[in-house]
Amino acid sequence: MLFRTVTSSLLAFLLLPFCSWGELTNEAIARATAAIQAAAPRAQADPARPIFHATAPAQWINDPNGPIYYKGFYHLFYQLHPFSDEGGPKYWGHVRSRDLAKWEPLPIALWPSREAGEAEVWSGCCTINGLGQPMIFYTSIAPGKSAQTDAAQWAAIGDDDLIHWRKSSANPVLTEALHGAKKIYDWRDPFIFRDKNRTFMVTGGNLNQAKGGQAVVNIYEAENAGLTQWVYRGVLFKHPDSTVATIECPNFFKLDDQWVLFVSPYGKVQYFIGDFDVETCRFQAHTRGLLDCGPNFYAPNTMQVPDGRRLVWGWVSGFPGGHGWNGCLSLPRLLTVSSDGQLRQKPAPQLSKLRGKAVEWRKIQLKSDGKTLMLPKTNAFEIRADIDLQTAESIVLEFKSGANNARPVTMNFSHSAFKMMDAETPLSLAKVGRNLNLRIFIDRSVLEVFANETVCATKIISPLDTSATLEIHAQDGAATAKLVQAWPMKTIW
Ligand code: FRU
Repeated sequence: MLFRTVTSSLLAFLLLPFCSWGELTNEAIARATAAIQAAAPRAQADPARPIFHATAPAQWINDPNGPIYYKGFYHLFYQLHPFSDEGGPKYWGHVRSRDLAKWEPLPIALWPSREAGEAEVWSGCCTINGLGQPMIFYTSIAPGKSAQTDAAQWAAIGDDDLIHWRKSSANPVLTEALHGAKKIYDWRDPFIFRDKNRTFMVTGGNLNQAKGGQAVVNIYEAENAGLTQWVYRGVLFKHPDSTVATIECPNFFKLDDQWVLFVSPYGKVQYFIGDFDVETCRFQAHTRGLLDCGPNFYAPNTMQVPDGRRLVWGWVSGFPGGHGWNGCLSLPRLLTVSSDGQLRQKPAPQLSKLRGKAVEWRKIQLKSDGKTLMLPKTNAFEIRADIDLQTAESIVLEFKSGANNARPVTMNFSHSAFKMMDAETPLSLAKVGRNLNLRIFIDRSVLEVFANETVCATKIISPLDTSATLEIHAQDGAATAKLVQAWPMKTIW
């Protein structure tokens, strides 16, 4: 045993000068980890960095990857560029939580295996295969190759705590050869689902690139328990809008007896709800909508939790560079489908564990002159408001703070639309009996709003100072804020 260890490390040492890839894997990961550690003090001292949204200790992050609940932990991975706060080749970062409230940063989970011909490890999913092994599936990009034309789907096998991963000896697990004569561009972002004891994978991409692209979701079926052999079952879904050129990060799952598809089309994330025919592997959508109408939410990924419910996280994107960190994940949102085929989203109930002492106001009569409420002395808080709209045509909320020169954060809810600064989306309050229920999370530079569990909006803001106020007005009529509550929020770390 000792002899074997000595000889293999000796061998590695002897081979080092001859390694044509420039660096051995363990050296690559040590460099990445050191780069994160070096950037962390500056990132963590930045007053705009959120405290109750998950992110890397420092540097650039994008999509949430491979959310999975396994052996008592909620695991989240994410796209990470360890060497700067402005993007570059991607690795997989990792955090986990026992309760969805407090999170623990973990070592980098996946990195490009240069020695095996990888330059980047892009988005994907995590699952347990039929042999009981944790597996990550992800898109692998080779050095000098274009992700548009030359991607492959790779796998890695994990240990029980999902901390250590080794690349599968079956890599590349899915290659373009599966598609025969069909060429799929931007082929990426594997997501696995199961139906009727069969295991499927979906990927995003587009056909007919030369003619502007036909955005599609592709479907594959596993042929073995180890999930290393797959067959192509064709196109699950073609995007109905000709303006959509491609689809990234598809998620496809059953929820409340309906099938739900999420697509990230280089624009606002859309959902489609409808029927899936497992025999033909085709999805027929009946309703559609936006997951988030704000400008800063993209590439969401979902997790099924032990009681069967499903959570989603998105990438909060679009922060300014140059602060040692860039990007975070949205709050976990609990998903349901309403009887009329609309997606409903509410903040995961476990987030209430992060609340400090509440301040509350009851039965506030609202007219056009408005009411000013003093918020807790922090710029990381949650607000809950239950408003009876009575005769009012719309409700306006304004968060203001003096010192930082921060632009006020304004939102306007009318019977037909929701406007938040430059974002606007239809809203139908009439359907919900004239009640407006708001959950608003302000985490320094991140704002997330949930209105009646049907409209969500994520927006990057300039942080308020710690003596912010909330002004609420009713326009063209009167309304009553039955209850407004505000909580300072604690950090998740
Ligand atoms: C979405 C995306 C994915 C890709 C990843 C690369 O933001 O472009 O399609 O896998 O980011 O980081």
